[in-house]
Amino acid sequence: DRCWSVVPAAGNGSRMQAVLPKQYLTLNNKTVIELTLGKLLHIAEISGVVVCHADSDTRFGELAIAKHPRIFAAIGGTERAHSVFNGLGYLRDMAQSDDADWVMVHDAARPCVSHASLERLLGHCRKTGRGAILASPVADTLKRQQANTPIITETVSRDNLWQAHTPQCFRLGELHAALKAALSTGVAITDEASAIEHCGGSVDLIEDSRDNIKITRPEDLALAGFILGQQAL
Ligand code: CTP
Ligand code: MG
Repeated sequence: DRCWSVVPAAGNGSRMQAVLPKQYLTLNNKTVIELTLGKLLHIAEISGVVVCHADSDTRFGELAIAKHPRIFAAIGGTERAHSVFNGLGYLRDMAQSDDADWVMVHDAARPCVSHASLERLLGHCRKTGRGAILASPVADTLKRQQANTPIITETVSRDNLWQAHTPQCFRLGELHAALKAALSTGVAITDEASAIEHCGGSVDLIEDSRDNIKITRPEDLALAGFILGQQAL
């Protein structure tokens, strides 16, 4: 079975409060999206990467990486799940793809993913035949708040709690069907695993480095720059 990647990149980065969507901000003379795509292209087993950009986006096509032979462009949607669904549809229309192929869905805003984690995730899926996601155990103590007050109602046990990262890796046909079903019911789908869970499927957790941050708020950009600098050493 082949392996592909879908990269949702159609958000506008409202929490980042920048003049550009965060995937087009630069770190060491490269845009965040080019850094992210570089990590995926470095995995030779990935046959192609489908980037889902906004319909109105003129920046992606201007990047040199848009012409890379293993990079394809599709149009994103109103929410992340719609963008991913469109990317999967694009892949399924490609003659070389098969529903049994693996697809790694990875946020454009996560340029710090390590080569080792990508290989570990794909290796696990190939070996076991099961879908899996990168994640890390929750580190902070968790508190539940009484709604609309500053008051803590309880401390939530951290036992067996993980934070979901990307990539999330599933069989192309299974993920497409799961997202289609989840999107039609209207439940909030914040990652691919939740769509699979909704359909009764099982998903494995693969421990990832906590360095695989999603650039979300202004302070994350400098942190990502530092992590990328460490990786280059
Ligand atoms: N994304 C997408 N299509 C959308 C919304 C988000 O492809 N309609 C992508 C983003 O570009 C990003 C990834 O999904 O690479 C993770 O989403 P998030 O961090 O929430 O990015 P934004 O939605 O752009 O940021 P914000 O929520 O702060 O506006
Ligand atoms: Mg968002």
